[in-house]
Amino acid sequence: MNNNFEDFLDRHSENDWLKALNDLLPAIHAVDRNATQIWFRFYPLSLYKYLRNAEDKAVAVQKFVIQGSYELKDQIDSSHAFLYGHRFWKSVKDEISKRAESLNDADTNLTDEIRRITKAVADHSKVDESLTVGIVAVGLMTLTQVGLEAFKNAAVETSAPKNLMKKSPDQIVKERAKDDSQGLFGFLKTIDKQWTVRYDERANDGKFKLMDDEEIASGAARDQSQNWLAKDPRCGEGVIPVECRSAACGTCWIGILGGTEKLSDVAARERKQMKIFGYNQGDDPKPILRLACQARAHGAVSIVIPPWNGVFGKKVYGNVEDVELEPATTSAAKLRETISDAVKSGQ
Ligand code: FES
Repeated sequence: MNNNFEDFLDRHSENDWLKALNDLLPAIHAVDRNATQIWFRFYPLSLYKYLRNAEDKAVAVQKFVIQGSYELKDQIDSSHAFLYGHRFWKSVKDEISKRAESLNDADTNLTDEIRRITKAVADHSKVDESLTVGIVAVGLMTLTQVGLEAFKNAAVETSAPKNLMKKSPDQIVKERAKDDSQGLFGFLKTIDKQWTVRYDERANDGKFKLMDDEEIASGAARDQSQNWLAKDPRCGEGVIPVECRSAACGTCWIGILGGTEKLSDVAARERKQMKIFGYNQGDDPKPILRLACQARAHGAVSIVIPPWNGVFGKKVYGNVEDVELEPATTSAAKLRETISDAVKSGQ
């Protein structure tokens, strides 16, 4: 049974949350501004609610060709490890749980609640509120999707800041903006310029190189330094899962923590396909969500790879034309072809 606070949170739609987040954006430190927005798009409330209300959730998941770990209940303490604010998670959990248990009437609003808990966490951690607001918003959405009991009872297993994440927030922002030096005669180079793509800012080796104007997924596929498949069954070619390489399957979506402006503009096909997949890319020509098989880089970028993918835009958001999927009785590859064919025939 829900308590007052859970009822209060549950009354809000995904749009309410995104509006609150948008109002709070100027108050979020640049180190977590993109990261927080990306996180909310990686774990969309509308998809969660759709599946919660589905007659047969397993069938819906299969129909949406969902692969990977898409539920917050399986990653309460880790889904947000790419946020700087992740280090304050214990305090975030404590303050949110305290608030959830003390709220008697729900005469409040989402933005005020985020602000109130943000202040408590910042006071407790002795840091500026700009560093805690993003992770508090993430914490409240996590509670919304997993329920108070699970939220409180999850063991706090936050990873200690490492590598780039050990630096100060301003330094991290600066590092993300930096391009690779191309050597003494770098200004003469054209196509043989190389750029670093960081996909895990907490790991020393969490990066690969790509050529100038190359798609991010192609650079990722050349890096065979690890057994990617053993880490994630979706990763047959590199650290970024790919299947079609033609914006047809939705497998390769990524968030851009830093360097959106160094990526190619979104073409009409990617824009349309993102809607079909259900990924909330937004209308910005340089958005924070991209398909790695389409986005080409002209400088160093920092990305984050979601642990799942699917195709749910039509059913969950209803904002795309009809795309008929074959019943999920065949292999994933076959399903991908079906999606691709359905999309092509709708053009
Ligand atoms: S690999 Fe299929 S959309 Fe990018």
